[in-house]
Amino acid sequence: MDKLVIEGGCRLKGEVTVSGSKNSALPILAATLLTEHTCIIKDVPNLRDTNTMFKILRSLGKNVEFDKGVVTITHARCTECVADYKLVSTMRASFCVLGPLVGKYKKAKVSLPGGCVIGVRPVDLHLKGLKALNIDITIESGYVVAKARILKGAHIYLGGEYGSSVLATDNVMMAAVLSQGKTVIESAACEPEVADLAEFLIKMGAKIKGHGTPTIEIEGVRHLHGAEHKVIPDRIEAGTLVIAGLITQGDIVIKNVLRRHLGALIDKLEESGASFGREDTLIRVHCKRRLKPINVTTLPYPGFATDMQAQMVSLMCVTKGISVITEKIYPDRFMHVAELNRMGAHIQREGPHAIVEGAAHLSGAPVMASDLRASASLVLAGLVAKGITSVSRIYHLERGYENLESKLQKLGAKIWREKE
Ligand code: EPU
Repeated sequence: MDKLVIEGGCRLKGEVTVSGSKNSALPILAATLLTEHTCIIKDVPNLRDTNTMFKILRSLGKNVEFDKGVVTITHARCTECVADYKLVSTMRASFCVLGPLVGKYKKAKVSLPGGCVIGVRPVDLHLKGLKALNIDITIESGYVVAKARILKGAHIYLGGEYGSSVLATDNVMMAAVLSQGKTVIESAACEPEVADLAEFLIKMGAKIKGHGTPTIEIEGVRHLHGAEHKVIPDRIEAGTLVIAGLITQGDIVIKNVLRRHLGALIDKLEESGASFGREDTLIRVHCKRRLKPINVTTLPYPGFATDMQAQMVSLMCVTKGISVITEKIYPDRFMHVAELNRMGAHIQREGPHAIVEGAAHLSGAPVMASDLRASASLVLAGLVAKGITSVSRIYHLERGYENLESKLQKLGAKIWREKE
């Protein structure tokens, strides 16, 4: 196993390009199960998670070729429609093959994803939405077994205790596109990744309106054809790089960004004292002012993304004063807190709140990554800490950040890989 070693204290400088979005690419890849025609997906990041999705698609009878960010998917055979526990348990997003499989083949057996380090993460909303489409769902030996004679459009309310769910919306939308009649999903997730999936489905011949809003309307069609699509830039990678620039008091230009997808983050950082230009496809981070502490609450899009919470905690650790970061999507997503405290941070956890008493310095230490975004927050802290930080278990980071280490190196960071 590798670890990342970082010598803190370098101001980042230069240009960096954001990769395609992991959370867009994964459901879009799953959606190719809805057709037997060829699909070409561009700007797919080369990550552990996208590679897991390739394996799942291959196990479901697709040929998948990946070359320099372009995935070409052709149909070979699909006999079983079974997504195995071994694959689904390594990545929750695999569960979004359920909707397209049952939509296309009227049957599917997909392993329940099981527990997750960032919280309980149930799938009740996925199942509720699919059942409403006239799909018979049973749980057998840890698998969801879905069967339908005819999928029928329905009016579905998909709101849950913590708001909307991205993958539940994706799953239901992918099943509904091949249903008979009209489906209305209310309290749908509005995340840009859901809208990107809908755009791909429309290119395949689906009839969808309202994507990107809480009410999605779908008129079922009989068949979908192949399509070509380029996934949107990864807003979470972009946000992580913005914080890398700020935390090191650097001067960087981040390219391949859709600034409109980063509204809540930019608003909070401006409240803290940072300022950014007005361009929509690049962000310059150059902040000479001392930042002020701020309070942040995570919410479904367009609110502040839970996937940026850990990185924001790192920034507030070196921003003098008290900040309160509240997690409303996954109240237990605070594994980074104890590790940041090992680096000299002063963070107190009170239920869904992290109370950060920011100071000017962190000190390098050996720390352990526990999930994707927590790993990113430790790398960010390492960039500014005095001395050497080593982040172990970086396979978490490799799930969602394409070449983060070399991107940071090009910006002047002293970061390298070592064997544990
Ligand atoms: N929820 C339910 N019932 C459900 C589904 C979800 O109550 O059936 C609740 C969850 O407990 C949670 C909230 O709804 O409180 C949303 O969570 P969910 O597990 O549905 O999120 P997701 O759609 O599975 C996507 C991203 C996550 C991101 C969340 C929230 C993908 C592949 N994953 O997950 O990304 O944190 O939305 O924005 O799109 C990451 O990239 O690091 C990551 C974890």
